[in-house]
Amino acid sequence: MAKKSFPLSKVYSLLEPGPVVMVTTARGGRSNIMTMSWHTMMEFEPPTVGCVISTSNHSFGLLKATKECVINIPTVEIAEKVVGCGNTSGADVEKFERFCLTPKPAVRVGAPLIEECFASLECRVADASMVSTYCLFVLEVIKAWVDPAVKNPRTLHHLGRGNFMVAGEKIKLKSKMK
Ligand SMILES: Cc1cc2nc3c(=O)[nH]c(=O)nc-3n(C[C@H](O)[C@H](O)[C@H](O)COP(=O)(O)O)c2cc1C
Repeated sequence: MAKKSFPLSKVYSLLEPGPVVMVTTARGGRSNIMTMSWHTMMEFEPPTVGCVISTSNHSFGLLKATKECVINIPTVEIAEKVVGCGNTSGADVEKFERFCLTPKPAVRVGAPLIEECFASLECRVADASMVSTYCLFVLEVIKAWVDPAVKNPRTLHHLGRGNFMVAGEKIKLKSKMK
């Protein structure tokens, strides 16, 4: 392959880790939603997820204080709402209302599930030791919800600068990985 030099500032767009998700947090009777693409699985069981959440986001303070959140996984059908939640701050906007999304009570945490997402993962902060250095929250999933009717979820994958890939095609190959 005829590869050319690639700017370091764009490397993130090659290693985009997984579906764009919507992180919900709640405190004092108010809920918030933030869009997030920088996350990674770290362990099978208990399911452990590393998430980078900038200090400039309203969600940062909410997650740091409450130590719990829900990772909601949207599909392309609500792409505009996903981007909307990533371009506005919960400091100014009540995002459930603004983007016509529906909060549903979680079972194990105070933050709500988003009804319009096909999967929701209730999480608590397992390790905050890298928050001050990398804004990296290590989360443990303590309860997971999935709509079994959604067979091949058309999730969004962020390529940077407003570009997304849409997943949805499933192929099966022999693999040693679980
Ligand atoms: C596609 C997309 C992906 C994003 N990924 C992240 C991310 O991984 N980490 C982060 O801190 N902010 C990320 N953002 C930015 C936040 O969603 C954005 O700053 C948002 O306004 C924060 O909301 P809040 O202030 O209500 O918490 C992303 C935004 C978009 C549109």
